[in-house]
Amino acid sequence: MDIFEAIKLRRSVRRYKDIPIEEDILNLLKKEIDECNKESGLNIQLIINEPKAFSGKMANYGHFKGVKNYIALVGKNSSEFTEKCGYYGQRIVLKAQQLGLNTCWVALTYSKQPEFINFNKGEKLHIVISVGYGEYQGNTRKSKSVKEISNVSETSPEWFKRGVEAAILAPTAVNQQKFYLKLNSDNTVTAKAKVGFYTKTDLGIVKYNFEAAAGKENVSWK
Ligand SMILES: Cc1cc2nc3c(=O)[nH]c(=O)nc-3n(C[C@H](O)[C@H](O)[C@H](O)COP(=O)(O)O)c2cc1C
Repeated sequence: MDIFEAIKLRRSVRRYKDIPIEEDILNLLKKEIDECNKESGLNIQLIINEPKAFSGKMANYGHFKGVKNYIALVGKNSSEFTEKCGYYGQRIVLKAQQLGLNTCWVALTYSKQPEFINFNKGEKLHIVISVGYGEYQGNTRKSKSVKEISNVSETSPEWFKRGVEAAILAPTAVNQQKFYLKLNSDNTVTAKAKVGFYTKTDLGIVKYNFEAAAGKENVSWK
């Protein structure tokens, strides 16, 4: 499955089958996480066989079922921390999709279990991503149009059109899609998060989807 296919197929999945992730799949996922940590300086961790975070009231309220594995996005706070969590978290989400797993980004509807996470000095947990074999493949959802979230037009370069298509498929908190992508006259791209809940994390997710579809070599962010 190529990356654009993974972007199109990925949807939030909140109910999981009671089966462990196969070892070779787990190793490939861990390898991707290690690479993300090396590149980003984050301390992203895969937490396996830990049902507590998703068994309380909050998880119930969020309609989660059978979550035993999750990815914890941990790092040192900085002005770029939450956007970085979005960007690298989405890279892992798409890798998981390619490996036949399902995921859901979760900021609120779980209970933090710090005893299962390793923190270096000054680090904190920003958000988690549930992961496992879904009972279903996710539901379709409403989406803004490409014109609402970008200045794409018939004359835009193909890479920008592809990037924008992938951007509207990016998951955002409460499906808010509060971002805007502008192709500038010098072919750079400005990506802006609007005011709202977790919109900087959303922006990181959107930028990863955009780059993956447009081709990293074509994208120069302003
Ligand atoms: C930053 C972020 C935080 C989220 N937090 C939660 C959450 O706390 N609980 C939940 O059930 N879903 C959460 N979601 C999932 C979104 O509701 C979901 O991605 C959105 O409705 C779009 O649907 P889709 O992922 O199927 O495309 C979150 C998504 C993002 C990107």
